[in-house]
Amino acid sequence: MLEQLESTYQEGLALLRDIRDSAALRDWELKYLGKKGAVTQMLRLVGTLPKEERAAFGKRVNEINEALTSAYAEREALVQQQELARDLEEGEIDVTLPGRARQVGGLHPATQTLRQFADIWAAMGFLVFRSRDVESDELNFSLLNMPPYHPARDMWDTFHTTTPGVILRTHTSPGQIHAMRQLGDNGSKPIRVILPGMVYRYEQMSARKEIQFNQVEGLAIGRHITLTDLKGTITEFLRRVFGADVRVRFRSSYFPFTEPSMEVDVRSDAVGKGGWLEVAGCGMVHPVVLQNGGYDPTQWSGFAFGFGPERITLLKHAIPDIRYFWGNDLRFLEQF
Ligand code: PHE
Repeated sequence: MLEQLESTYQEGLALLRDIRDSAALRDWELKYLGKKGAVTQMLRLVGTLPKEERAAFGKRVNEINEALTSAYAEREALVQQQELARDLEEGEIDVTLPGRARQVGGLHPATQTLRQFADIWAAMGFLVFRSRDVESDELNFSLLNMPPYHPARDMWDTFHTTTPGVILRTHTSPGQIHAMRQLGDNGSKPIRVILPGMVYRYEQMSARKEIQFNQVEGLAIGRHITLTDLKGTITEFLRRVFGADVRVRFRSSYFPFTEPSMEVDVRSDAVGKGGWLEVAGCGMVHPVVLQNGGYDPTQWSGFAFGFGPERITLLKHAIPDIRYFWGNDLRFLEQF
């Protein structure tokens, strides 16, 4: 038995040494290492041997199996190299052909806009502050100056969870409270942050309305921040997004957590020849909100804004239906 094993081994090695092409290599592999190969069969035999022979034979078969397997791998590498060299020499491989492009993923259009926004705000001194998607009713409404009976709550149709008082945030504004409490050091430090992230609204979905979308909230708190700072900062941001000739319009509006409040419209050739497009809500942080964040409103002031980046992306690329964003249709996504 052992003798037969050794001769199979020697024969296999010898044959392998003479192999020059991959077809022969494949045959060799079948003959020795394949399912019905000589070595494989002997491996199977081990279990059927009487105890006295089993240990010695089993050990040797395993050694030979390993040795032939690695000899095969070595030979394979060599043969491949030689074949490649041969093909090159014979002109079968045209190295002047352009390579095959490798398909790599791209960034979702919404992500691209979010990153562009974050870059611009970073250059203007605003860092990114992450805040959670699942919020308490208190943070989403009450602490933003909307107590439970407040009619302004109706401005946001809300997804509730089965846990009372726990909702999906309807806007990124509750992040203002988190940011003030976490970064403000009991109302003693200035803040400049943006809060990007997904928000959720219980709406009838349509080409223009989604139940989830991103917002980019902004918050600046300081000692002498005025409405002029707000308008200047937002205008500068929009110039960096749309180009220096963008036109920016502030319309007075209402939000319970800012006073005064405004809505921001832009008009730009960069987004087509349409009319004014509303891109953000904003205002001076309401004294009650400052207080809820730990700041003394007689000493501190600030502004806040909330952009809807998807609306801008929609316009920039003339996307006809907002549902494309989260529909996960590759035919849409691959265009970006
Ligand atoms: N949170 C408001 C909304 O979702 C936008 C906003 C943010 C307005 C900050 C003012 C200040 O409509």
